[in-house]
Amino acid sequence: MNQADIPFFWAVIPAAGAGARMRADRPKQYLELAGRTILEHSLDCFLDHPQLKGLVISLSADDPYWPALSCASDERIIRADGGKERADSVLSALLRLAERGARANDWVLVHDAARPNLSRFDLDLLLAELADDPVGGLLAVPARDTLKRASADGRVAETVDRSLIWQAYTPQMFRFGALHRALADALVAGVAITDEASAMEWAGNAPRLVEGRADNLKITRPEDLDWLRQRWSTRG
Ligand code: CTP
Ligand code: MG
Repeated sequence: MNQADIPFFWAVIPAAGAGARMRADRPKQYLELAGRTILEHSLDCFLDHPQLKGLVISLSADDPYWPALSCASDERIIRADGGKERADSVLSALLRLAERGARANDWVLVHDAARPNLSRFDLDLLLAELADDPVGGLLAVPARDTLKRASADGRVAETVDRSLIWQAYTPQMFRFGALHRALADALVAGVAITDEASAMEWAGNAPRLVEGRADNLKITRPEDLDWLRQRWSTRG
């Protein structure tokens, strides 16, 4: 697809998590990777993109790290207050987008603050593949390992057919109006929402799975960051 055919979009970066599983001295998005914070790397792909209209970042109220970053003064970045769960942080960002004039049909791409290895190729692939899609969708990766369903005693209950199982990654790309409605309604209904696609599914939609690179991983545990540091140190 021609660059001119790629639609304009807004980005939403939920960055209000504590990173408990990382067990570090600060939220994981502020840990160092190749001389900058993980968060700055996660923002790069969007801030470098000519089709970006604006970007909202959801931050904890008591976040002392954000103001020290050079991108904190970037005029394209709007701050929102983070919420209790990731979905609350995303909804808070969408409310800020409404104030900024986002229209129902605008695309919104939600991307984890702790996913610093998104490639421009994958971002453009998502934008191109979904440009004419009535629902939207997400980057995802087909399951590779053999999958087991566990029983309560920690033994294998069964082997699961993995041929139709995918891991959900980000960005997740939906129309502003539909995503806002689905998330707000799902939260009011008390539904557990772990990503934007699950809110859209709950509202009766079938998001498209767009196969992306497996190395667009989310930093969750210390070994994820070790792996990425090692990989980046040898990429030349
Ligand atoms: N997030 C958020 N608001 C929350 C919880 C999470 O904005 N209340 C963000 C995180 O900052 C992260 C993304 O959602 O960018 C994905 O969440 P996850 O990987 O679970 O991060 P944390 O919740 O920070 O980590 P943990 O679950 O280990 O505490
Ligand atoms: Mg979490």
